Amino acid sequence: MSQEQKDFSSISPSALSLLLMKGYTNIPYAKELAQMMQGPEVFGLNFDDKDFWFWIRVMHFESRYWSIDQLLRSTESKNVLELSSGYSLRGLDLCAKNESIHYIDTDLSEVVATKQRIIDQLQPGDDIKGTFELLPLDVMNEAAFNSTIDRFGPGPITIVNEGLLMYLNMDEKKRLCKTIHSTLKQRGGCWITADIYVKRLPGVIISQSKSEVAFMEQHHVEENKFESYEAAAFFKEQGFDLVKEATQDYTTLSVLPHLIKVLPEETRNSKQPPPKIQATWMLRAV
Ligand SMILES: C[S@@+](CC[C@H](N)C(=O)[O-])C[C@H]1O[C@@H](n2cnc3c(N)ncnc32)[C@H](O)[C@@H]1O
Repeated sequence: MSQEQKDFSSISPSALSLLLMKGYTNIPYAKELAQMMQGPEVFGLNFDDKDFWFWIRVMHFESRYWSIDQLLRSTESKNVLELSSGYSLRGLDLCAKNESIHYIDTDLSEVVATKQRIIDQLQPGDDIKGTFELLPLDVMNEAAFNSTIDRFGPGPITIVNEGLLMYLNMDEKKRLCKTIHSTLKQRGGCWITADIYVKRLPGVIISQSKSEVAFMEQHHVEENKFESYEAAAFFKEQGFDLVKEATQDYTTLSVLPHLIKVLPEETRNSKQPPPKIQATWMLRAV
């Protein structure tokens, strides 16, 4: 499919599924937003019968969310750009806690319009001490990307994202890397991406609804994942160094008590951590 034909907005419904799942965690604002946005979601998840697979998923997305915060805390940067943020309100949360933050929260225009409506209903108003902006941005549009960056005052920039790279093919990933690389070379800072997903090993079975399988196939998600954690080589070729990887500590997750209740006997007695399917990296342009 040529670049002109690709309709990135067909990916957007996945953001609602993620929000509805995160509504079962203590991720800031997720519960309130999920209540405001209830409705049919694209993966056909069964929210009535919350089984092992349901809670495993919620655990994965909760862990992924916090992994970005963990690496963000280790940067000095006051300028943060989030790409393809969906219905995540990390930016609002950081701006509520820190008056010197300038957070630009972005996604495609339809998602941003819906998100703006729910933020208006939330009325975070007086809680927000920093500068929070919610703006449309197609990450494939380099000119729009650069004008968004120009809104920041002086100082390094931290770019963050989760749940995007697996929807981009190799060429699109390279184009985005090029845009981010030139921004970071000019401005300094780093890129924190939670999208280091590796392909499933043959024989590994996960429970997915028919609509989820169809959605993932439509968007070539499995093909778009990295072959292995040697993905560092891909980023190296694009001019990035891997600075650090977020550590995962499942014991601190708010979802854990729910998951423990539905764990199959053999898993409950196992001392092994869950298999690693994803990593969150901090990258620097060299
Ligand atoms: C799986 S959701 C992830 C949302 C959010 N980051 C989260 O983890 O909850 C994927 C998001 O990517 C956004 N997206 C897809 N293509 C995009 C593009 N070209 N530019 C910006 N955002 C895009 C979609 O609108 C959607 O919100």
